[in-house]
Amino acid sequence: MDFEDIETVAVLGAGNMGHGIAEVAAIAGYDVQMRDIKEEFVQDGYDNIEWSLDKLAEKEQLSQDEADAALERVTPLVDMEAAVGDADVVIEAVPEKMEIKKDVYGDVEAYAPEDAIFATNTSSLSITELSEVTERPGQFCGMHFFNPPVRMPLVEVISGEHSDDETLDAIEALAEAFDKTPVRVRKDSPGFIVNRILVPLMNEACWLVHDDVATIAEVDSTTKFDMGLPMGSFELSDQVGNDVGLHVLEYMHEVLGEQYAPCPLLEEAVEDERLGKKSGEGFYDYENGGVDIPT
Ligand code: 3HC
Repeated sequence: MDFEDIETVAVLGAGNMGHGIAEVAAIAGYDVQMRDIKEEFVQDGYDNIEWSLDKLAEKEQLSQDEADAALERVTPLVDMEAAVGDADVVIEAVPEKMEIKKDVYGDVEAYAPEDAIFATNTSSLSITELSEVTERPGQFCGMHFFNPPVRMPLVEVISGEHSDDETLDAIEALAEAFDKTPVRVRKDSPGFIVNRILVPLMNEACWLVHDDVATIAEVDSTTKFDMGLPMGSFELSDQVGNDVGLHVLEYMHEVLGEQYAPCPLLEEAVEDERLGKKSGEGFYDYENGGVDIPT
């Protein structure tokens, strides 16, 4: 599939990343079929896109007409065949579990056109292993967005062992058409570039609090105001989703070694379902005051 022939993009998963990617593709003028396994999940994703587009219009980053037109280009769906049957590119953003993703690719393979490209938004899992469950490992690569996709400029385009150049070039050009800056990741390695740096940073912040070196507010104040990062480490972990960060770490721990062992503070947050902004509470309580970092 050449970039010039891409018109319809299917996005699988309407969660934090899925709905954000669907929104980015729709703003760029593509027809988007956003699919999740339950009606309520796709509806939540669609409502989130509507909220975000209105916010962009309110801040004059888009006109209201452009925002309305983008929303019209998104079709929310539950049926897999309808979602991928005429897709030129399928961007998969389902939960970060190898088995779930492999099952999804089994279904997608049955309905997607033969020349469609499969691009996974996985945060860390092996692109090569995922590609091998399909009959088109050459037409498979990573396309990793950052949270929130509509605001974050970077997209990692990751080559699996079998990804062919035509596929990587098309996905890189698609990222540019989405008004993003693609960076090519040459080797399929856990966490790729960004998460290999960022997720251990969030884990290390947890160890500082776990070991009583500092409080959450003190760590976040230091990272945000003194180190100059756009968010505190715990604020960022809540933004990304503590479950997502933990999955990345667990995989890096398994494949790369002991230095990536997740901190119990992060594990407890996930066990208690304090997943971050999306669940209303993470390291901060978003229903009662939200982020509170002293300056
Ligand atoms: N759509 C539209 N508006 C949004 C939005 C969205 N998705 N998300 C937030 N906003 C709005 C907020 O509601 C707020 O609106 P308000 O002013 O009316 O209250 C406004 O945006 C805030 O925007 P600002 O530009 O004033 O805020 P910032 O300058 O702080 O920018 C940010 C926000 C771009 C999110 C910035 O804080 C940032 O860059 N944070 C770091 C995020 C980051 O590093 N993400 C990557 C994480 S790693 C990852 O995702 C990989 C994964 O695999 C783990």
